[in-house]
Amino acid sequence: MRTRPLKVALLGCGVVGSEVARIMTTHADDLTARIGAPVELAGVAVRRPSKVREGIDPALITTDATALLKRGDIDVAIEVIGGIEPARTLITTAFEHGISVVSANKALLAQDGAALHAAAGQAGLDLYYEAAVAGAIPLIRPLRESLAGDKINRVMGIVNGTTNFILDKMDSTGAGYQEALDEATALGYAEADPTADVEGYDAAAKAAILAGIAFHTRVHLDDVYREGMTEVSAADFASAKRMGCTIKLLAILERAADGESVTARVHPAMIPLSHPLASVREAYNAVFVEAEAAGRLMFYGPGAGGAPTASAVLGDLVAVCRNKLAEATGPGESAYTQLPVSPMGDVVTRYHISLDVADKPGVLAQVATTFAEHGVSIDTVRQQGKDGEASLVVVTHRAPDASLSGTVEALRKLDTVRGVASIMRVEGE
Ligand code: HSE
Repeated sequence: MRTRPLKVALLGCGVVGSEVARIMTTHADDLTARIGAPVELAGVAVRRPSKVREGIDPALITTDATALLKRGDIDVAIEVIGGIEPARTLITTAFEHGISVVSANKALLAQDGAALHAAAGQAGLDLYYEAAVAGAIPLIRPLRESLAGDKINRVMGIVNGTTNFILDKMDSTGAGYQEALDEATALGYAEADPTADVEGYDAAAKAAILAGIAFHTRVHLDDVYREGMTEVSAADFASAKRMGCTIKLLAILERAADGESVTARVHPAMIPLSHPLASVREAYNAVFVEAEAAGRLMFYGPGAGGAPTASAVLGDLVAVCRNKLAEATGPGESAYTQLPVSPMGDVVTRYHISLDVADKPGVLAQVATTFAEHGVSIDTVRQQGKDGEASLVVVTHRAPDASLSGTVEALRKLDTVRGVASIMRVEGE
């Protein structure tokens, strides 16, 4: 057992950082035994030094993260600041000074993952980021390592707890979006500005990271098609129930049938109640992976929160420290397939479309003809009429998204179609 400690710089000491520091202190002996050397918190870089931080030696606190990284004795930096800057510059500085990095920063990895992996690789250092996707759930390492001998064809996940909480409330209580969001805010699940969660930006960043790892290619945040869930209504849930479905905000990553390209998307979708993801309640996350040899795997657990996220960070810290002692590095970026990311229009799936139409002869035929003209085959139609108006729900067979968009555009132009109340994809069948 080596007695000289491995020194850790903690960059950021918010909800996650403070839990990382606490676990490093309270579990020091276990961490030492598991790593094979003591691991020491050597400095904590923060923005507000005056804030009281229980359990952290005030002498470790600094506002100068760069100086902490440059002082010459740091082995590993843990970046839990979040956002693009100053995190990106600090991680780059760490690599320039021979320091491996553990990061929980999904936004940065989804945007600049390629450059950061390249910098780590050139420096012969580790970049680990288990906590960046789905909090405590072991996912990055299983995909990168345990499934490295298999071929992943599809990943479908609930990777945002806030939106899952809101959708679960809407499902179980019949509440509308705003009412469910208010409850999520009151309980501390949703932030004061929930945009990143409810508009799908958070899930899209995680989708980009997962797609790159699953398909051994580069997927940038901008490659991910994104739709938020603010338009999902109580009526949509009622429709979903009639079909034996519920509604989830899903990240869906697929290898094309010909294997020549991939798609990455985030949007609300109906899934059958029999699908394992349908039973993921409250703010939990879950990721369903379909691999050629392994078959179907489901990873489930808390996707956010201080202690769960710190668990993933600590797991990475142990791995990076072990690598360091072995004078090795873990697996770097694997992007050898160089598969292009196809646009959303190429995605093939089923659709549930609710239309408000005039209830008079020929309307159904007109609507059906519009679908046929765009090559979209109808599976079921349900109509409910009242006072000369009708609500028409059409569920299609599988069709390219571009064909569905063309259909909807044409439907909107029909005099007899008063409005397109909702369009929802149907997945997981
Ligand atoms: N805001 C995210 C969520 C957690 O609700 O799942 C951090 O990614």
